Amino acid sequence: MNILGICGSLRQASYNMAALRACHDLMPEGMTLRIASIGDLPMYNDDLRIDGLPEPVVRIRSEITAADGLLIATPEYNFSLPPALKNVIDWASLPPRQALQDKPVAIFSCASGPLGGARVQYDLRRILTPLWAYTLPRPEVFIGSVDTKFDARGHLTDETTRRFLAELLHGFRDWVLRMQRSQSGAP
Ligand SMILES: Cc1cc2nc3c(=O)[nH]c(=O)nc-3n(C[C@H](O)[C@H](O)[C@H](O)COP(=O)(O)O)c2cc1C
Repeated sequence: MNILGICGSLRQASYNMAALRACHDLMPEGMTLRIASIGDLPMYNDDLRIDGLPEPVVRIRSEITAADGLLIATPEYNFSLPPALKNVIDWASLPPRQALQDKPVAIFSCASGPLGGARVQYDLRRILTPLWAYTLPRPEVFIGSVDTKFDARGHLTDETTRRFLAELLHGFRDWVLRMQRSQSGAP
């Protein structure tokens, strides 16, 4: 099961990226994670679409299409999505063959505030639904006060957070299998 990781923060020392990397070690057997590069995507501009999709856009769209599922780690910016993540979604959503169609998606968020990005997650679920992405309903993982949960080298040291992420990934494996079964028409 090939999972594509997408981080909504472009920051070098991003906590969300650090938590996404930690997921490599927390995944159940049979699941692998590759983390996408999204920093080179141009900001969405419809003129670029008309001129022919830029290479980084073609790349991320085909990576999303090929993945069995997406694991999105994102910060909350001003109570909603950071622009880098919204940009990926906008490029991915273009017809024909919009890349999020029937795609299982798991979400978690790291934020400096105590709510851990609750608001961005609900906005993200809301905008993925009309694209026919299948967002894992539970468990929800909000990593608040994130600066207390990593060591100086960016390793996720907080055991409770590690356990929550492992539970999310196990739930996601079952969710991907369930969505694949329902698309194949199997009972
Ligand atoms: C423009 C901007 C807006 C932010 N708005 C919020 C917010 O609404 N809620 C919140 O919890 N944190 C907010 N933060 C703080 C982020 O949670 C914090 O910077 C977090 O570490 C970003 O994730 P990263 O480490 O993966 O880059 C904001 C940060 C920035 C730069």
